[in-house]
Amino acid sequence: MKCVKVPLRQLNDTRVQLMENGQMNMEYRIKAGNEYGYIPVNEDVDDYEIVDIELEPLKRTAHNFSELLEDELTSEEIENLRTSFDTIGDIVILEIPENLIGKKQIIGDAALKFTKRKAIYMKKSAIKGTIRIRDLEFLSGEDDSITIHKEHGARLKLDVKEVYFSPRLATERKRVMESVEDGEKILDMFCGIGPFPIVIAKNRNVDIIAVDINESAIRYLDENIKLNKLKGNITTYCGDVREVSKSFNTKFDRIIMNLPGLAYTFLDVAVDLIEDGGIINYYEFSDSYEQGINRLKSACSNIGKDVEIINTRKVKSTSPGEWHVAIDGKVIEKSDD
Ligand SMILES: C[S@@+](CC[C@H](N)C(=O)[O-])C[C@H]1O[C@@H](n2cnc3c(N)ncnc32)[C@H](O)[C@@H]1O
Repeated sequence: MKCVKVPLRQLNDTRVQLMENGQMNMEYRIKAGNEYGYIPVNEDVDDYEIVDIELEPLKRTAHNFSELLEDELTSEEIENLRTSFDTIGDIVILEIPENLIGKKQIIGDAALKFTKRKAIYMKKSAIKGTIRIRDLEFLSGEDDSITIHKEHGARLKLDVKEVYFSPRLATERKRVMESVEDGEKILDMFCGIGPFPIVIAKNRNVDIIAVDINESAIRYLDENIKLNKLKGNITTYCGDVREVSKSFNTKFDRIIMNLPGLAYTFLDVAVDLIEDGGIINYYEFSDSYEQGINRLKSACSNIGKDVEIINTRKVKSTSPGEWHVAIDGKVIEKSDD
């Protein structure tokens, strides 16, 4: 490596001058001996002694995910991976497409370096089964799937392998919370670890009954109730809401139904438990609002009620042309006309 050789006391001034003139080779580390220093240069430099010695190359530190993977993947592949990141507390879950599975370890290590979180897991299946969880494969960091996720000032403890949780619903939860008024009696029919109840009860003085069939989810919700300073009150039940709700001797001002694949099959239970004028926050997977609105109307009609649709939203895209949609319906007395 071509270097300028200077007495040690001139090393710093020379380095600055060579850098300013664009003559220094920035890919290598400067070497300091006992009497002389050696500065790597790109070309011969007038007025200096030039020598040829071995220098250590400088390790470049990658600044972002793309830089960490630029030698392995195309920029499109990197961008697709980056948008698949779900960060839950100090855990990152990512989706690696089939054609990149051979590079999963490199990708996992890069994600760990880039995100500086505790653990990286890879999705191994779709969300499935009654309790709506997916298989995960540990890729990098520390294999500990328990974490605390912070959302809208609430702390949500969970095990990403045992329960359903999506950070992508944060905006929806805030929207629902903001529409809740103090004093409401609320039923969350499919509460999971309780993100809706916790975020609502943290901000509103309400009474919430939260039900889930997954024992682990209810265990974490019980912990989350203790972890957060709540204005409202939450009572938990573990079991099938169709059975559990038979013991409720109260009606509700609001019912939350976030089980989008199957919520429609529980609409008969919900319309039975809602007060007149109460709101059902109903969710389903669909390419339109029409199907959900018709299902709500039909469930209400079956018990001689009507529904006024007060809001519809696309919460998130689930596959091309299909959405997780939200429909807020106010259940009312049927008018005569
Ligand atoms: C899509 S997750 C939603 C969890 C939570 N509401 C959230 O937003 O994170 C649906 C939840 O419904 C629960 N579940 C499924 N069938 C149920 C049933 N029949 N009764 C009560 N809970 C049920 C699952 O265990 C799962 O936790």
